[in-house]
Amino acid sequence: MTHQLPGSIAIDGPAASGKTTVGLAIAAEFGYSFLDTGLMYRGVTLAALRAGVPADNDAVKPLLRRMRMTVRVDAAGTRIFLGGEDVTGELRRSDVEKNVSKYSALASVRASMVRRQRTIAKREATVLAGRDIGTVVLPKAPLKLYLDASEEARAKRRGTQATQDENDAKKDIASRDKVDAARAVSPMRPADDAIAVDTTNMTLEQVISFALEKVRCARN
Ligand code: DC
Repeated sequence: MTHQLPGSIAIDGPAASGKTTVGLAIAAEFGYSFLDTGLMYRGVTLAALRAGVPADNDAVKPLLRRMRMTVRVDAAGTRIFLGGEDVTGELRRSDVEKNVSKYSALASVRASMVRRQRTIAKREATVLAGRDIGTVVLPKAPLKLYLDASEEARAKRRGTQATQDENDAKKDIASRDKVDAARAVSPMRPADDAIAVDTTNMTLEQVISFALEKVRCARN
């Protein structure tokens, strides 16, 4: 393991922009844990759907209090548990996918998740991937990357991962981007001091080696 940056790393960007792939590569190379904050918002969404709780601040608050969510991170990634049950495999279901932007726009949900994310980042050197890490969660992170790519390129990557048909992926990505960027609380946007990368015409290997280089530079 090489030396770690004094502090955690922020990776933001829209859906399917490569945040997880890049974050895991950094975590493996430099010995960080990887926190996929999108999975936390998906976990809340799954808990709400299971309990029939609508996407409304007043209705969600009691759920946030009683839901026993555990977040486990290491260099291999993030796992989410609800009441001791590992639900990580359920979090990319289409009903969660379709509803997650509504629940993650709620101020009560964000306050609760941001608090937990900061606790994890304080406890251990972590790469955090999300939408508001560089702007809200860790505004003092020593390295902030903002990954972007055209809608077509992102839908194609999702389609190739065979998690979804390319056309469905495109519709889904477009509608989530719109809600995530337009919401009142912590909208998705690059921090002023983020390194923004348009990866549309880059291979994943190129994006990874670019990111690893930025981490090496930040450590020197
Ligand atoms: O990264 P993802 O596609 O799994 O994220 C799922 C949703 O969670 C995304 O549409 C918006 C929300 N999200 C958020 O609002 N803030 C974050 N830091 C991460 C995700």
